Amino acid sequence: MRTQVAIIGGGPAGLLLSHILDRNGIDSVVLERHSRQHVLRRIRAGVLETGTVELLRAVGLGERMDREGHPHSGAAIAWQGRERFFIDTKKFTGKLMMAYGQTAITEDLYAARDARRGKIIDEASNVQLHDLTSTQAHVTYENKGQIHRIDCDYVAGCDGFHGVSRQSIPASLLRTFEKVYPFGWLSIMSVTPPYPDICYCYHERGFALASQRSPMLSRYYIQCDIDAKLEDWPDERFWQELKARCPKDMAEQIVTGPSIEKSIAPLRSFVAEPMRYGRLFLAGDAAHIVPPTGAKGLNLAVSDVFYLSRALTEKYHTGRTHYLDCYSDMALRRVWGATRLSWWLTMLLHRFPDDTQFDERARQSQFDYLTASEHARASLAEQYGGMPFEA
Ligand code: APR
Ligand code: PHB
Repeated sequence: MRTQVAIIGGGPAGLLLSHILDRNGIDSVVLERHSRQHVLRRIRAGVLETGTVELLRAVGLGERMDREGHPHSGAAIAWQGRERFFIDTKKFTGKLMMAYGQTAITEDLYAARDARRGKIIDEASNVQLHDLTSTQAHVTYENKGQIHRIDCDYVAGCDGFHGVSRQSIPASLLRTFEKVYPFGWLSIMSVTPPYPDICYCYHERGFALASQRSPMLSRYYIQCDIDAKLEDWPDERFWQELKARCPKDMAEQIVTGPSIEKSIAPLRSFVAEPMRYGRLFLAGDAAHIVPPTGAKGLNLAVSDVFYLSRALTEKYHTGRTHYLDCYSDMALRRVWGATRLSWWLTMLLHRFPDDTQFDERARQSQFDYLTASEHARASLAEQYGGMPFEA
């Protein structure tokens, strides 16, 4: 088989890339390790920046999002013993954000690719990338016991943190930057009316977050020990702990119910540089991971795909390689911006096992500065809402 762009990974990054390339007349094949059912079962983030919303609309993926998503003007921070604070993206940037789950976006992407007969090969195992620095770049994979080969001009590595693409770059050429946090997030989904705002809570018992997917679907998180076990967290204990970390009026408003999903995820910041090796371009979680505190993971995958699709379109339509040549630098500038914000919010809103009283006071002072300074509020709102894409 031959294609112009072989895309490794059928998560949001890979599917969106194949969709946008197709709209620009560029052929691609998506190779996904898991079944479609498995990919669609994954529950992940749910807050979209305006840039993400506008891009999805511009490429014909806005219809259901605009119908079912919940536009909102920012997010709240409820700090123990302090007045509630609002990260007002609408006031400071004029932009609305959108609560719309990654699962729904992935469904929309699969529907759009199917409608255009997009080539998605799922259950493709043992994907390997070959000759990435030559004009004979190709990928091989196994499916139903047979080995297949796809020749291509370019490979897009959209296969997430544990994928094969980043590992195909020689270690001597790759620099990685990492921070692992000493706690995790325990999350639940429940079929209950959500708390009206997305609200981050800082409490001496630890961090908590109220979020939402739809008028009858709530998403909640609490900070947990790194070695916490799901079996130790029956629903009742979760709700109790969540409410203990929220202000009283908020706790009273939270509607509880049985969980339909419950999981624990560790928190990590990770960036790999560069995001290009010869004809291989990395996008999304394949190149970087942020802790979920700023809700940036999906938005970064989308901005990478915006830059990469623009670069490939320029190359195929005009022969110019300006955007391909600056892809890694440009994408990384935005990645580092979001990495820095996610790290900062994580440090601000969590209790760390080795915290001293000095750390606590400094954190509190940081929060007080936010509430006291219009400049600080504007800066946070601008970054939380998402920095614009570079021209
Ligand atoms: N071969 C083929 N496919 C692979 C391989 C492989 N060796 N390894 C991983 N994959 C697939 C995974 O099964 C997954 O479906 O690549 C896909 C990567 O998807 P995601 O992990 O969702 O990453 P991405 O598309 O970059 O989306 C980023 O996901 O984790 C969240 O916070 C993150 O919301 C952000 C979004
Ligand atoms: C979510 O809705 O899942 C969500 C919201 C905000 C975050 C992280 C996750 O910072």
